[in-house]
Amino acid sequence: MPVAHQHVKIAPSILSADFAELGAEVDRVIGEADWLHVDVMDGHFVPNLTIGPPVVAAIRKHCDAFLDCHLMMTNPGDYLEAFARSGASNCSFHVEVGDTTELIAECRKLGLGVGLAVNPETPVEACEPFLAAIDLLLVMSVHPGFGGQSFMPVAVDKIAWAANIARRDGLEFEIEVDGGIDVDTAPITAAAGARIFVAGSAIFGSADPLGAARDIRIAAQSAFADEEIP
Ligand code: DX5
Ligand code: ZN
Repeated sequence: MPVAHQHVKIAPSILSADFAELGAEVDRVIGEADWLHVDVMDGHFVPNLTIGPPVVAAIRKHCDAFLDCHLMMTNPGDYLEAFARSGASNCSFHVEVGDTTELIAECRKLGLGVGLAVNPETPVEACEPFLAAIDLLLVMSVHPGFGGQSFMPVAVDKIAWAANIARRDGLEFEIEVDGGIDVDTAPITAAAGARIFVAGSAIFGSADPLGAARDIRIAAQSAFADEEIP
């Protein structure tokens, strides 16, 4: 029976795509991609360097997908305008960079969606002051910086905590989970309250990326199989 809770978003992370074939890689998954997840790393906040606004602009020229930009940066505020100009749909910055009030306001001014990300070692309660002002909470289930790491179960309680707060306070932010998501971890995090599933290696590391994305969607939706329409 179809249920109201079943809607999940799959966000393939292009970090695990072949950058020399980026357009073709995007085309391979777009049929199952509600969003495309773009991992931006500055070599400071995380010990890796990846993608910046020119690549976002190139993807934007290639397709009209929702571009979910995950800014693993110490100074995201210096680049929000560049990401907006490049065609980003939303920007998520990390709660670990400090008071994010101004960053949230700047995103709104630029017409960007707003996400707040939280690392595995950071208490999720640090996000509480900002939950009413954001569109999504990005719960990291690996240490950010690299694809292909194992899922950290500490994320599950954080997701459940955030889902409870949203229910309690009538807040509308969505919960996104990022790191080690596959057909085994998607249902666990979905049951806790996640609705947006980022997956890199489980999708682009597969011989059939579209099928892999579809399988993750089906696995996430299976968490709601027993629920009734309210
Ligand atoms: C990690 C990134 C993730 C990464 C996920 O720093 O934020 O988005 O691409 O990759 P997998 O799905 O391979 O863990
Ligand atoms: Zn990410």
